[in-house]
Amino acid sequence: MAEHFELHVNGVARDVHDAWSGESLLYVLRERLHLTGTKGACEEGECGSCSVLVDDVLVCSCLVLAGSSTGRAITTIEGMSADGEPTDVQRAFVAAGAVQCGFCTPGLVMAAHALLAADPDAGEHEIREALSGNVCRCTGYGRILDAVATVARARSGASATAAEDSPGRE
Ligand code: FES
Repeated sequence: MAEHFELHVNGVARDVHDAWSGESLLYVLRERLHLTGTKGACEEGECGSCSVLVDDVLVCSCLVLAGSSTGRAITTIEGMSADGEPTDVQRAFVAAGAVQCGFCTPGLVMAAHALLAADPDAGEHEIREALSGNVCRCTGYGRILDAVATVARARSGASATAAEDSPGRE
């Protein structure tokens, strides 16, 4: 039976018409809402290419029913940067040479942002664990890990500086 529902994607209410109740969030994002930054590959939750945030939690959108995501805040790679400016993670990927074919990049960027939002001081172990669900066929991972570590150092350095500059600090 065809369904009609509304999804909140990247801060915007989007109508979804004539969907089948079994359509995945990945399918609806790409094929109905034309947000093609989120990639589909294994469609079994194994490769991380389809990673998005649902209520700030990283999920494989291939494993989530679109109809179960109503009333939740969905963020895709298109919603990560304000005004089309690349995020610090995206800039670090480019600077580190962590992008080759680029197919894995949106999912890795989403995973890196999810990690650093929860743990701005993430070290190598945490970064490796957080990215372990994302498959890259090209880079060998070294430059990806370097890029995320660079952002973690920059963010933790910035927060330490802010704390030192705080007037209330003794
Ligand atoms: Fe090609 Fe990662 S850059 S799969």
